[in-house]
Amino acid sequence: MTQVIRTAAELREKVAAWKRSGMLVGVVPTMGALHDGHLSLARAAREQSDRVIVTVFVNPMQFNNPADLEKYPRDEAHDLALLEAEGVDVLFAPGVDEVYPDGFATTVSITGITEPLEGAFRPGHFDGVATVCSKLFGMTQAGRAFFGEKDWQQLQVVQRLVRDLNIPVRIIGCPTIREADGLAMSSRNVRLSDAHRAIAPRLHEVMQGAAARIREGLPAEAALNDARAALAEAGFGAIDYLELRTVEGLRPAADLSEPVRMLAALWLGDVRLIDNIAV
Ligand code: PAF
Repeated sequence: MTQVIRTAAELREKVAAWKRSGMLVGVVPTMGALHDGHLSLARAAREQSDRVIVTVFVNPMQFNNPADLEKYPRDEAHDLALLEAEGVDVLFAPGVDEVYPDGFATTVSITGITEPLEGAFRPGHFDGVATVCSKLFGMTQAGRAFFGEKDWQQLQVVQRLVRDLNIPVRIIGCPTIREADGLAMSSRNVRLSDAHRAIAPRLHEVMQGAAARIREGLPAEAALNDARAALAEAGFGAIDYLELRTVEGLRPAADLSEPVRMLAALWLGDVRLIDNIAV
């Protein structure tokens, strides 16, 4: 039975009791509208911890676009049913006032790694992520926290956060889970029209093709330019970025002299998709 907890005080009591019995607590922070990607994180948490908390909180502070916040899918009853089936111990679903009570005045802001890519297109986004993750780590007191590699930059940001602030939680990155046709799972996918859903898997296909050509020796910029053209041809809208970056530090990369990832963000109608792959 998954217990739904809405206050930090109640959660703290529960976690304190677990810890007194020597249990290791794992947390999976989410914004709900759960899919198999989230459930794979819950499974990893189950395997690597004695007790599992999944947090569901649509964090207003990380949305730079109010319409995106408004349209963000929410279905707590469905989320709870999925978590029950995974044997998750607690669904922590605080209200906005619980996380940001009157007078809340703290922002956790990380420089450097937050600036390119998502940071450049979603000003303030990572301040919101870093602030809410700091709060969720404090509220849950978990020893391990599980994040998807789909949000590669977010994973790097959270790792930086816990190192810089000595937060006693180990961050575990877990592989991106994809639909059978290659589309990376995302809560936003439900907002794609049928026509756009049919186009969406081309993103992963085109990225893989470009990565293969770079590995074969084509200069990265040429491969990326061809990929941008192929995406436009497939029917995608504006491409916010399609870039090669170093795995560590997300510095711009022009070749494979160190481990790199290809990262993309682009639009299909009013839905913004992001993806990344190892090159
Ligand atoms: O990846 C997400 O769903 C969110 O950014 C997170 C980590 C739950 C913080 O709100």
